[in-house]
Amino acid sequence: MAKYLVRNSGPLYGEVSVSGAKNAVLPLMAAALLSKEPCRITNVPALEDVKVMRDILISLGTEVSELSNSELTIDASSLRTNVADYDLVRKMRASFLVMGPLLARTGSAKVHLPGGCTIGKRPIDLHLKGFRALGAEIVEKDFSVEAVAPRGGLVGASVYLDFPSVGATENIMMAAVLAKGTTYIENAAEEPEIVDLANFLNKIGARVKGAGTDTVKIDGVSSVHGAEHAVIPDRIETGTFMLAAAITRGQVYVKDVVSDHIRPIIAKLRECGVMVTEGDEGLVVDAEDRELFPTDIKTMPYPGFPTDIQSPFMTFLATVPGNSTVIETVFENRFMHVAELNRMGADIRISGNRAEVRGGKPLHGAEVIATDLRAGAAMVLAGLYASDVTEISEIYHVERGYENFIGKFRSLGADIKKVNE
Ligand code: UD1
Repeated sequence: MAKYLVRNSGPLYGEVSVSGAKNAVLPLMAAALLSKEPCRITNVPALEDVKVMRDILISLGTEVSELSNSELTIDASSLRTNVADYDLVRKMRASFLVMGPLLARTGSAKVHLPGGCTIGKRPIDLHLKGFRALGAEIVEKDFSVEAVAPRGGLVGASVYLDFPSVGATENIMMAAVLAKGTTYIENAAEEPEIVDLANFLNKIGARVKGAGTDTVKIDGVSSVHGAEHAVIPDRIETGTFMLAAAITRGQVYVKDVVSDHIRPIIAKLRECGVMVTEGDEGLVVDAEDRELFPTDIKTMPYPGFPTDIQSPFMTFLATVPGNSTVIETVFENRFMHVAELNRMGADIRISGNRAEVRGGKPLHGAEVIATDLRAGAAMVLAGLYASDVTEISEIYHVERGYENFIGKFRSLGADIKKVNE
């Protein structure tokens, strides 16, 4: 089993480029199923999750190039089946995103219930609510979901999401592209990845308006065509490297970022006393010789503080003297990293969805588990600060979502290596 061994490496220095966003590229790849012409996606990160989505598209009969030069070409003209393979789908929750485009294009789709990180229940009821509103009949049986459009295809409708779910907003947007008439998604997610998907859909000929606000309007079109699109930078990877500079009290230039996508992270780091300087293409994060202060964070849908940065940020707060509070409102089971951090000497107490961090306790290396993708990143950050060696297992979670994770950390001076046992 592969593990990371991480040692305290002192302050990190240097510059690091952020890759294309995992959470943007996966829906874009699914959306290419709508088109009978090839689509070219650039700035694609080399990630396990991208490989899984590629395999799913290929299993459906789509031709997908090898990832080369961060580019993928997806040609779904030869789409053969609308039943997504169980063994692939169970590996990743985002695989459920093929349901909307398959349903739109072929009139029906069958997808097994998705897997992914174990951070709470993560149901799909809102995705299904949207498909039903567009006229689809849904049959849930034996851990799979089958959706069948009415004769004549899906019909535009208004869908109110009880929670601004990212995946549901994306799936319903994609399903609505080829529907007859107009669809409104109300209380839609506003994440930058939704805007990226809308931009791609509009490039292939869809008519999507309002992405990035709480109401997305989709005027159905009869067909779409090919296009080329560059994936936006990964705001969670950006935040991870910002926190790497902060936790090691170093100075890092994080390049190829969109500052507007990470306002809450910039604001909260500044509240903690970290200097963040914004430039045209990147940010300098400087925590060297600075007095640091505790703060409180509460995760919320965009533009609130991102749940995906909660565990890395909590790790940083564990190193800052004073009491901080972290409240998680998006997922109900996203404090699994707390037990691991406490094993390293942190003092964090959980009560419901609230964690009280008594920061500034010395951290020491320990054998810990990457309980999910972002918790794995949090463990690496903890290891860079702690004394002795931190041994992190179940690192496949980390490699699902970060491109060249070790290489990028090493280029900043981090002492981290991967070993196979
Ligand atoms: C996406 C991101 C993930 C991020 C999350 C929230 C991708 C591939 N993943 O996940 O990294 O942490 O957004 O920013 O983009 N929910 C329902 N019913 C549904 C769907 C969701 O109740 O039908 C609930 C979930 O249980 C969760 C909350 O809504 O509590 C947020 O989930 P959602 O926004 O859908 O997250 P994902 O799209 O799965």
